[in-house]
Amino acid sequence: MAAMLEARSITKRFGGLTAVNELSLEVRQGTVNALIGPNGAGKSTLFKMLSGELRPTSGHIHFKDAPITGLNATEICRRGISKSYQTTQIFPNLTVSENIVIPALAKLRGPFRFDPFRRLRGVRGLADVLAGVLRAMNLEERAQTRAADLAYGEKRRLEIGLALATQPDLLLLDEPTAGMSPEESKGTVQLVKELRKSVTIIVVEHDMDVVFELADRITVMHEGRKIAEGPPEEIRAHPAVQEAYLGGAL
Ligand SMILES: Nc1ncnc2c1ncn2[C@@H]1O[C@H](COP(=O)(O)OP(=O)(O)OP(=O)(O)O)[C@@H](O)[C@H]1O
Ligand SMILES: [Mg+2]
Repeated sequence: MAAMLEARSITKRFGGLTAVNELSLEVRQGTVNALIGPNGAGKSTLFKMLSGELRPTSGHIHFKDAPITGLNATEICRRGISKSYQTTQIFPNLTVSENIVIPALAKLRGPFRFDPFRRLRGVRGLADVLAGVLRAMNLEERAQTRAADLAYGEKRRLEIGLALATQPDLLLLDEPTAGMSPEESKGTVQLVKELRKSVTIIVVEHDMDVVFELADRITVMHEGRKIAEGPPEEIRAHPAVQEAYLGGAL
């Protein structure tokens, strides 16, 4: 089976700094892929190139057999890649449901129209998407709560929900458990585990317990390059990984 996503030798330079250096990556449909590496390794920059926020300096990206290199974020989202953000995208004064409706509508109705909340009942599929996202992110009981009144962990789950609301085929999660309590983190990992049944996932994550629990494949980056790749048991034992990332701790 061909890969769903294929990045071929992509590079991103910021002036004299090479944040991502000739990196290639293949992601198969239905898998959970973890991207790990120390601070500054280039993980978020790679994600931004996949989601269309940044244009690669060189290299090519293919998604579902079509080239997507250089397309903007809206177009890439329309084709089925959605990213959950490290920084917040939530409208604090809207309810949880209203927040989810915005990206859901953008996908269902195409590019944004004037008044997003007018005649919502007329939009086919919206209620299903909303209910599905609330359920998937365990936010059903918070549907009518103002986003500003959510607990931290709930806000982070809503951020994932916003990405899910565009009904992606490939979901990019940048540190979904960052800043969460151990309890919240556990719950989120469970939810992501459930998601894998319906969407292919790449997750950037620093917590190695989370990585080893979730991932089918792990890609290790260091200073912009891919230094290792494979199933968790192989990565755990990889000398270059222990040296560069785990500090020999395992
Ligand atoms: N917009 C930018 N302009 C200039 N340099 C940037 C920009 N974005 C990232 N960088 C640099 O590129 C390198 C890679 O950054 P990136 O954010 O991709 O790392 P990361 O692996 O996500 O790190 P972290 O684990 O800390 O989130 C870093 O040296 C960073 O300072
Ligand atoms: Mg980052």
